Amino acid sequence: MTEASAPGKIILCGEHAVVYRRPAIALPLADLRARVVVEPGDAGSGITIDAPDLERRWTLASAPDHPLSALIVSVLDHLSRDAQSDVPAPALQIRITSTIPIAEGMGSGAAVATALVRALAAHLGHELPAEVVSTLVYTSERRFHGTPSGIDNTVIAFERPIWFVRRPATDNPAIENLIEPVTIAAPFRLLIGDTGVRSLTHLPVGEVRQRWQAETAHYESLFDAIAASVIRARAALAQGDIRALGALLNENQALLEQMGVSSDDLDRLVAAARAAAALGAKLSGAGWGGVMIALVMPADGERVAAALAEAGAARMLETAVERQVNV
Ligand code: PMV
Repeated sequence: MTEASAPGKIILCGEHAVVYRRPAIALPLADLRARVVVEPGDAGSGITIDAPDLERRWTLASAPDHPLSALIVSVLDHLSRDAQSDVPAPALQIRITSTIPIAEGMGSGAAVATALVRALAAHLGHELPAEVVSTLVYTSERRFHGTPSGIDNTVIAFERPIWFVRRPATDNPAIENLIEPVTIAAPFRLLIGDTGVRSLTHLPVGEVRQRWQAETAHYESLFDAIAASVIRARAALAQGDIRALGALLNENQALLEQMGVSSDDLDRLVAAARAAAALGAKLSGAGWGGVMIALVMPADGERVAAALAEAGAARMLETAVERQVNV
């Protein structure tokens, strides 16, 4: 039996603009994880995938077009190329579980895919570097979800805070994208407030693309303003200036609102968090639902959490972001 896991993620700042090659900062959520267990199956039974959280069970042969079936095939292809000989599709039982909420902007799809790639490769005796895992997951996401920037698979595969800038599309995004560690000079806490509204990433992403096409100059200037605030957020993190970071998260939210990707539910949670002493608050991920984040001092965490609950948050999580000094 082989087990592997992968974390959820949160985008601290820069979502949407990151699709248009502006920088963004993302953090792994170590406590929320997707897990995949791979066990030998009965001889001749092929590959069976069991996802009890989704109430789904299928075989590779019966659903070859399922995104995870296609991902399994591309991992086997990759391992065959690596070994310069065919890695035959063995008889396997693959079981997928996850504590990451689905379609809430916390990277559940990319985390499941990452854990699957890691577990399958490990079961077949290979340890893949993070860049390769990230590329396999990205290629799968791109096939099924249009034009993701690649930030989700990258932060999840590298499992550390990242500065990410998308580079022109190539077959090897992990190499072409700019991926740098982020220095975090002072620890901080984020409360994650869930609207309870599922949001499919491609819908707001598609809407932003249409608006960008219709009003290119306006949207380019919004993306530039987001980039400027993300650059300052990186400096604030490096200086341990949590108050400045809070103000920059607020600035980023105002720009996301102007882009039309917030929602009444998100706005209500953001306002409640700020009124209850959060240093800053914004939506996180694609918007129109999903989650928002609030930057809080440890002493104010409970007060802000109570305010979010009062304002109708369907669920709340707290994450501590540790000091991270990169040499
Ligand atoms: O999948 P989500 O909800 O975390 O959103 C991804 C962030 C976007 O910038 C909106 C899209 C992308 O591909 O980067």
